[in-house]
Amino acid sequence: MGEPLLVADAVHKTYRVGRVDVPVLCGTSLSIARGEWVAILGSSGSGKSTLMHVLGGIDRPDRDKGDIRFKGESLASWGHGRIDRYRSRDVGFVFQHYHLLPELSVLENAALPCTVGGAGGLSLSGSREVRDRCTRLLEACGVGHRMCHRPAELSGGERQRVALVRALAADPAVLLADEPTGNLDAANSAAILDLIAARHSEGLTIAMVTHDQTVAARADRMVHLVDGRVECRPVSRSSGTSVPSRSPAAPA
Ligand SMILES: Nc1ncnc2c1ncn2[C@@H]1O[C@H](COP(=O)(O)OP(=O)(O)OP(=O)(O)O)[C@@H](O)[C@H]1O
Ligand SMILES: [Mg+2]
Repeated sequence: MGEPLLVADAVHKTYRVGRVDVPVLCGTSLSIARGEWVAILGSSGSGKSTLMHVLGGIDRPDRDKGDIRFKGESLASWGHGRIDRYRSRDVGFVFQHYHLLPELSVLENAALPCTVGGAGGLSLSGSREVRDRCTRLLEACGVGHRMCHRPAELSGGERQRVALVRALAADPAVLLADEPTGNLDAANSAAILDLIAARHSEGLTIAMVTHDQTVAARADRMVHLVDGRVECRPVSRSSGTSVPSRSPAAPA
């Protein structure tokens, strides 16, 4: 494996619900090499979205219990400005439930990570380059005809594709995609995966959550979240199935 780009090192994440602690990640380790495509699988509630959120700097590990490192730097050592830049520029994030801003058009949503200061700089008129790039991506994802619509006027699958365009718009080093094809039919899913694969061949590093073995088989490597830990399985390209190769406690 090549040089690690994004690393989760023995990460614990516990949610507090009322007076009850709910441990979700229990020493999860995952090292993603520069240019690698990793598929993350696991049963519902196993912590896949939680892991994506801590990898993306949207949430933090429990205090002093694990570390996220990007290019060897601990996210915990960064101030607000650097974390904001990491979230908007270094990483492109596709949320499981899209999180598009309802008051913005499709094009404005897609361009959001490219606008200086995020939601503060929504005028796209000054940036023809951003507008053209987003327009091309929206067209490539089959939602070019929805550019002026609001998210509420779109189907679930259309919203999902806009969320992917937003994640790719700022040309990030890493794509963190939480079930990016979960609402798409087979043809649209294949088209989106082709687009992601094309970016991957240009060097994009990818961590992608999926329940779909066919989608996971497009990745270089599959890992499974089991009991809050990562289990590593090599991809069988012929069948799309996988075989456990490590104990759940071993770092992947
Ligand atoms: N904000 C929260 N507060 C409390 N508990 C939470 C919170 N977010 C997630 N959980 C709990 O953490 C566990 C893992 O949730 P997570 O969303 O990471 O699972 P998942 O593997 O992504 O599931 P799915 O495949 O259904 O999307 C679940 O038991 C969930 O109820
Ligand atoms: Mg999830």
